[in-house]
Amino acid sequence: MNIILLGPPGAGKGTQAKMLIDEYQIPQISTGDILRAAVKEGTPLGKEAKSYMDKGELVPDSVVIGIVEERIQESDCAKGYMLDGFPRTVPQAEALDEMLSKLSAQIDHVVSIEVANEELIKRLTGRRTCRECGAGYHVMFDPPKAEGVCDKCGGELYQRDDDNEETVSSRLNVYEAQTLPLIDYYKVKGKIRPIDGVGEIKEIFGRITTVLS
Ligand code: AP5
Ligand code: MG
Ligand code: ZN
Repeated sequence: MNIILLGPPGAGKGTQAKMLIDEYQIPQISTGDILRAAVKEGTPLGKEAKSYMDKGELVPDSVVIGIVEERIQESDCAKGYMLDGFPRTVPQAEALDEMLSKLSAQIDHVVSIEVANEELIKRLTGRRTCRECGAGYHVMFDPPKAEGVCDKCGGELYQRDDDNEETVSSRLNVYEAQTLPLIDYYKVKGKIRPIDGVGEIKEIFGRITTVLS
């Protein structure tokens, strides 16, 4: 099963993907995570990506398309995968269609997680992430047992560089201008599965697994 997790910054794509990995035994491919890892390692890709990410803008299509094209052909993707944060422009969606048709594969579901902007801003500015294992938390909505420490591995929790109010606001604008058109793109193809993204994390997980089964 090949799935796209579509939704604005803070919708819960990463949070739900982590739970869906266990449910369906398919990997999460997060272009944001791949780019942040490259930034941390200081690779040429990371250096190029950082300037866009810090401003809340999108990294050029050609860069992310290349990353995804390689990644989906790795052996752990043989039984399917979840794309988290890709595609986010119409050219990326078209490139994905093209690469899938070459591989005689297709997208089965586009899970479109809907949350209003006011809630997104609260979620993003309070998000914390584990430096070691990548687990996600929220200082109010999903706090760790001990402040600043990951429940799962004891790693240190940090705040993403792009989760300050100014960058969040530009990310939300970029989403509306460049990514929102994808809902129509996939609606026409009959792939959109709208999900109300407001409520308990587990409740939303239930809504998603219901539409996927
Ligand atoms: P990326 O890392 O993809 O960020 P994003 O799309 O902005 O989404 P987020 O990761 O911020 O949100 P999420 O939906 O995963 O929310 P989460 O589950 O963490 O991209 C970052 C940057 O990389 C981009 O700006 C761009 O520069 C670049 N990039 C990446 N992909 C690209 C592409 N394809 N093309 C070009 N550039 C690209 O949840 C958020 C918080 O809310 C957490 O604290 C969580 O605990 C909490 N939460 C989750 N669910 C709930 C709930 N139900 N109730 C209350 N709180 C909740
Ligand atoms: Mg994410
Ligand atoms: Zn951890």
